[in-house]
Amino acid sequence: MSKETFYITTPIYYPSDKLHIGHTYCTVATDAIARYKRLCGYDVMFLTGTDEHGQKIEEKAKAAGVTPQEFVDKIVTGENGITDLWKLMNISNDRFIRTTDDYHVESIQRIFKKMYDKGDIYKGAYQGMYCTPCESFWTESQLVDGKCPDCGREVHYAEEEAYFFKLSKYAKPVQDLLETGEFLQPASRVNEMINNFIKPGLEDLCVSRTSFSWGIPVDFDPGHVVYVWVDALFNYCTAMGYLNDKYDDFEKYWPAHHIVGKEIVRFHSIIWPAMLMSMELPLPKKVYGHGWLVIDGGKMSKSKGNVVDPYLLADMFGVDALRFFLLRTFPFGSDGNFSNELLINTINVDLANDLGNLVSRTTAMVEKYFGGTLIAEREADAIDDELLGMIKSVSAKYAEQMEKFQLHLALEEVFKLIQRANKYIDETAPWVLAKDEAKKPRLASVMYNLLEALRVSLTLLKPFIPASCDKALEQIGGTEAATWENVSLYGVLPETVSVHKGETLFPRVDMAKALEELEAAKKKAEGPKFPPVLPNVTIDEFAKCDMRVCKVISCEAVKKSEKLLKFQLDDGSGTPRQILSGIHKFYEPEQLVGKTVVAILNLPSRKMMGQESNGMLLSAVHEENGKEELHLLMLDDSVPAGFQLC
Ligand code: ME8
Ligand code: MG
Repeated sequence: MSKETFYITTPIYYPSDKLHIGHTYCTVATDAIARYKRLCGYDVMFLTGTDEHGQKIEEKAKAAGVTPQEFVDKIVTGENGITDLWKLMNISNDRFIRTTDDYHVESIQRIFKKMYDKGDIYKGAYQGMYCTPCESFWTESQLVDGKCPDCGREVHYAEEEAYFFKLSKYAKPVQDLLETGEFLQPASRVNEMINNFIKPGLEDLCVSRTSFSWGIPVDFDPGHVVYVWVDALFNYCTAMGYLNDKYDDFEKYWPAHHIVGKEIVRFHSIIWPAMLMSMELPLPKKVYGHGWLVIDGGKMSKSKGNVVDPYLLADMFGVDALRFFLLRTFPFGSDGNFSNELLINTINVDLANDLGNLVSRTTAMVEKYFGGTLIAEREADAIDDELLGMIKSVSAKYAEQMEKFQLHLALEEVFKLIQRANKYIDETAPWVLAKDEAKKPRLASVMYNLLEALRVSLTLLKPFIPASCDKALEQIGGTEAATWENVSLYGVLPETVSVHKGETLFPRVDMAKALEELEAAKKKAEGPKFPPVLPNVTIDEFAKCDMRVCKVISCEAVKKSEKLLKFQLDDGSGTPRQILSGIHKFYEPEQLVGKTVVAILNLPSRKMMGQESNGMLLSAVHEENGKEELHLLMLDDSVPAGFQLC
């Protein structure tokens, strides 16, 4: 009998910039679900990809001085690009779609034509407020404080001849679909969609653009390109071969489960089902709108520039630690506040302490007390019952949460077992049993129960931290036994199982040191604030600047000027020299009297605020985040006035 299929997707991301930890979060979550379903025996299709058309990409490419295709190629398949990131993160996607792939382009043209022929797409004129970063037109009533309701940025008036999709025609069936409660989850998002978008009245949707060209051409009307969201949403079908010859899996896998961020739930739960209804195709099984990772309350986003780099975190802490942190810490349906402290804490508590220690203590004890291979004799005790009960029951609780995509709750169930097993070590005190040869069968029971707890835990953790689980399962002699069929059973490992203690799976992270390193890496990644070195001057040209050591005789603020300080300087000539300098923002006059400074003397005399300035004081200046910093160049007071700098 052929296996039941399960089709799951991530959004296809915009390659407008490098992806950040928010995208990684969604892809890792989807990966965990896909791996879980495979573990359960499903024939899984896991799709991810990139959404490569649209005005934003066209503009970015232009700014970078390359073609849009070159621009997206670099971000998608270039070094440390999107496909590299998913490889690094151990993402098990079965397919990767790029909307610039030929087969997709052809399919979209056929789809657009089909809806046009049906009368669901018609030609009209569009007037409205447009948000370029979101590629969205908004009505006045949808704007929030005159700004884009999705991202809060400025919108501008735009008008163009365009094709429209009869979204209004599908308002009722879409509302019915939403009200089933099964289609869109978490449930809280259903009312939001109905109240904010359907109840105010669904307007027809503008589905073509003429103001730019980086898109899929409407083949029967040159000059129009297909609206990027129509192009993008149908990826879920075209990637299975719908209306193209590239693949032939559409009947087999469609409909899908869509995992998307909450800001694009509107597209997936209203527009998308309406277009599928128009195409007379089966509707998605589920749309799950996960929450955002935020930093200090604000959404992390490429266009805001407050992003966290997954490459950096994976490099410092390991891929599995990062995967685990993302899915263990934040309830999948809600927003989560990202912080490095939280990441490190999760690694130390759950992975190093609870899981890592259980593996290393158990394998070390089996090696120490049994030379690595358990004896077959056993002696049970009532104290075992609770642990054994949990070993047999945890997978059902875990599965219940996984089926609802409540990944953090599924992990919580596994960690209850892991914590219980650690407590069991303290309760049974194997080091005491080991002192008495007659207690060897009892000691073997304790060890076996711990190994069984580990086998079950590691099997259930595999979808989340696959590589680490494979290593740990190998250490406890459980590689073969780690199947879904075995996961609710006790007594699966061989009676005389052999273990070996391996490398530490999750080393403890030194919080202070790691935070320092992260800060340094961030600074480095932000790039040098160092302006380019100026073109060369000759030594003779340089020597023409007469720079001298001067002593500040007096210094006072220039009246009516916020910036200027007036200096009388001893330049060694015997006659005081007056110089004005715009540094009052940084120094009070009394701080400078008596100081040893450096001035260029042979600049032409200038008047400022009616007063003469004969030269210029040297200082070190630096600008960061639009804020200027300045340090007056001062020498040791033992240097006499009049000395020349060269
Ligand atoms: O919207 N926290 O692409 P996109 C959590 N191309 N998840 C985040 C996140 C954050 N701070 N930032 C991004 C698009 N994401 C369209 C999709 S689908 C047919 C077309 C995740 O590059 C989240 O899943 O803006 C979000 O929905 C997705 O990345 C948006 O990626
Ligand atoms: Mg976005």
